[in-house]
Amino acid sequence: MTSTDAHEAAQEAAKRNLWLHFTRMSAYEDSDVPVIVRGSGPYVFDQHGKKYLDGLSGLFVSQVGHGRTEIAEAGARQASELAYFPLWSYAHPKAIELAARLADLAPGDLNRVFFTTSGSEAVESAWKLAKQYFKLTGEPTRYKVISRELAYHGTSMGALAVTGLAAIKHDFEPLAPGGVRVPNTNFYRAPDFLAGDEEQFGEWAADEIERAILREGPESVAAVYLEPVQNSGGCFPPPPGYFQRVREICDRYGVLMVSDEVICAFGRLGYYFGSERYDYQPDIITFAKGVTSGYAPLGGMMVSDRLMEPFTAGTATFLHGITFAGHPVSCAMALANLDIFEKEDLLGNVRANEAAFRATLEKLYDLPIVGDVRGAGYFYGIEMVKDKVTRETFSDDESERLLRGFLSQALFDAGLVCRADDRGDPVIQLSPPLICGQEHFDEIERILREVLTEAWNRL
Ligand SMILES: Cc1ncc(COP(=O)(O)O)c(C=O)c1O
Repeated sequence: MTSTDAHEAAQEAAKRNLWLHFTRMSAYEDSDVPVIVRGSGPYVFDQHGKKYLDGLSGLFVSQVGHGRTEIAEAGARQASELAYFPLWSYAHPKAIELAARLADLAPGDLNRVFFTTSGSEAVESAWKLAKQYFKLTGEPTRYKVISRELAYHGTSMGALAVTGLAAIKHDFEPLAPGGVRVPNTNFYRAPDFLAGDEEQFGEWAADEIERAILREGPESVAAVYLEPVQNSGGCFPPPPGYFQRVREICDRYGVLMVSDEVICAFGRLGYYFGSERYDYQPDIITFAKGVTSGYAPLGGMMVSDRLMEPFTAGTATFLHGITFAGHPVSCAMALANLDIFEKEDLLGNVRANEAAFRATLEKLYDLPIVGDVRGAGYFYGIEMVKDKVTRETFSDDESERLLRGFLSQALFDAGLVCRADDRGDPVIQLSPPLICGQEHFDEIERILREVLTEAWNRL
């Protein structure tokens, strides 16, 4: 078979047999499905050998970059020794070692790890734990969960009820009951009466959580889910004092605070956990993605002894489990991944370079289409607007033409993997591997400048 034949056969099979996630399959009727075959450092390569800067770390995952043979070898060693055994009644050495290591890294008293295979499962596990915890501690009516507008917390039926993106929920209703929405911390789109005062905006946004708890009835609310920096909508950092105020509110009403760090943990914000960066103590942290840098699937939740306590005596059991959760190969690879974090001081790299990353992206403010550049660490969103002064956004039709019709493909063609998203206002999301430095920021800026200039001309 020639390489052209092999390519055509792969395309045919990709179109006939493979179902891509969150993808309009019709988009590939007349064009090739992009096939990524290999990665090295912050770059990936397609089936034709073309190189792309992985400006999204795959999907906020590849913290240490691609092609790290030491992680691959750790996985291979583990698979030869013990490929699989469940965490149902048994332990295995790598799950024990990883749990202890995560307990050391986690803020405050979070020292118990319940592994999953994904972020959605971590989010659902936290909800189930909250519900059962309250049943065991004499507050059986607490089941509701509060989360923020536009926030993405996963797609399985429970996680979807926590997710705040109406557009990806409607077709799957009825969802698990109990999901309650509050405003997010998009300061660029703050209500007029709060525009210009970030601290007051933060107080208001936190107090909206209190109002929601009171409206629903505190005795019915189990948990509040918050990302340290909200991804969906385009990287909303917390206003100063926001998390401290939310912590107080949760304590006042006996509601658990879940820090959903599926994206923000493991260096994305320059710390092992985003809650550390913003100095708040959650009751539960959910994680996934960066814990293995994607070399194998793994997620989990970390909880304090206080939440574990009702499950430690008599017949009490957390009635929940997942076959592949805490898979030995994934745990071994997570440990090798964390070794790289330490050896190469990746947190230090992010902290040393994040100001330069921001400054490089902020150069784009001279383009008429760039309305807001926001984020923290190596996690940024660029909001595109039709009018910088009025902050007018695009109509649905313009957004469709701009994002789906042009930007996503044009950025990819220009050699940058990132995400053009209009689940809120139209944004471009960036989340490069933590090994990146100025040369990569410059490459991102150059490609964005070219493509956004062309997008503006096409409007
Ligand atoms: C904050 C957050 N929570 C949960 C999830 C769901 O994770 P997964 O896709 O691994 O199920 C995601 C995925 O991007 C996420 O960003």
